[in-house]
Amino acid sequence: MEWRSYQPLLLPLVPNLRDISVYEAHGGYTQLRRALRELSPAQIIEEVKAANLRGRGGAGFNAGLKWSFMPPKQEGVPRYLAANGDESEPGTFKDRRILEFNPHLFIEGAIIAAYAIQAEAIYVYVRGEYADWIDILEGAIQQAYDKGYLGKRIMGSEYSVEMYVHRGAGAYICGEETGLMESLEGKRAYPRYKPPFPAQKGLWGHPTTINNVETLAHVPIILRMGARAYTQIGQPEYPGPVLYGISGHVQKPGIYELPSGMLMTELIYEVAGGMGSGKKLKGVVPGGSSTPILRADEIEGVRMTPEALRKVGSMLGTAGMLILDEDTDMVRLAYRIAAFYKHESCGQCTPCREGTGWLKQILHRFVERTATMADIDRLLSVANQMEGRTICPLADAAVWPVRAIVQKYRSEFEKVARPVLVPV
Ligand SMILES: Cc1cc2nc3c(=O)[nH]c(=O)nc-3n(C[C@H](O)[C@H](O)[C@H](O)COP(=O)(O)O)c2cc1C
Ligand code: SF4
Repeated sequence: MEWRSYQPLLLPLVPNLRDISVYEAHGGYTQLRRALRELSPAQIIEEVKAANLRGRGGAGFNAGLKWSFMPPKQEGVPRYLAANGDESEPGTFKDRRILEFNPHLFIEGAIIAAYAIQAEAIYVYVRGEYADWIDILEGAIQQAYDKGYLGKRIMGSEYSVEMYVHRGAGAYICGEETGLMESLEGKRAYPRYKPPFPAQKGLWGHPTTINNVETLAHVPIILRMGARAYTQIGQPEYPGPVLYGISGHVQKPGIYELPSGMLMTELIYEVAGGMGSGKKLKGVVPGGSSTPILRADEIEGVRMTPEALRKVGSMLGTAGMLILDEDTDMVRLAYRIAAFYKHESCGQCTPCREGTGWLKQILHRFVERTATMADIDRLLSVANQMEGRTICPLADAAVWPVRAIVQKYRSEFEKVARPVLVPV
């Protein structure tokens, strides 16, 4: 599909779509009706699996496959769906757009997903800073209740489900799925060991599926157009629409809905209008602050899919791209990212609690011009000792960007470091 003629599906250009009557007038809630009347939970799971809907929260796991991990329903054992709208990864602001402009698409998708996994409640976890968008979401949920799309015996069917909104209190770790569950349960958001996975033992110890807000918003689209047509949007290995969040030194930053697998160069130079003030590109962080940076000379011909980005040593993450021009101070960038992860570490695991502190401290020496050459390798050594040794991937998320920046822009660190003095 030629991206220039692509018509948005997640964020269509329809005024006031957040109003339920406008949403219904554009076909809204017909897929929920169809799901409840004509499709079994297993059929919906198969359709979503066949569509190869890959989670939009960062890890890209097949959503239908995840739903199929839920154990068989047992009498008296509740099951839950948690929708992750914590959206705290720097550079990521796409779920917010869905909540603002098309909340019913998300609500409809969440109800269909809940029916597919036979959940009795949906918990929507949204970062508390999104106060205005939470108000919009709550208004939309109330409209859905008033219309009988939520609550007891939806649309006269046997299926009942409740939807609750929970406001986060400003911690990035609440976006990690098990931290999110702890937080929902009213506890400190310490991520849990896995296994057991949430499908086995999730919220309050019961089977739970967790999906990103955007992932769930894709579900009515898949049912409406069919899995086959959905897989023809963009690149088959990661099909469907993508909300590219482009920020930083471009002419037109913003969220752009386009087919998956766009070329990075197309996104920067055509979609986002090119670099601001005519400066040259220095680097791109492709999918949120935790994804390894790519130098300007590494992005030519690279598509925004997990596989293509893995080949060049990075990740798609949330497709929140940070574009950096030639004036960017890479030392300060590394420090800023490290400071964020240090602040957000929950402190449970020693390599993360101490390691993020060390990364920040050593990088601070470079910023203050007090570092020595030996600090470059010390930094890389600390990073290497943190990776893969912790309960959740936050420590990895701190290591990847810092390591990539230091390795790829090493000369900038060398320029501000003092030589190691050897006594004679
Ligand atoms: C530290 C950390 C923060 C995360 N923050 C978010 C978040 O804000 N939103 C989100 O959807 N997923 C986040 N994730 C990923 C979730 O753990 C989980 O994979 C995701 O919600 C699953 O949904 P999906 O399969 O639909 O993508 C985070 C993961 C980690 C390790
Ligand atoms: S890796 Fe960091 S954030 Fe994750 S559980 Fe361990 S200490 Fe907490």
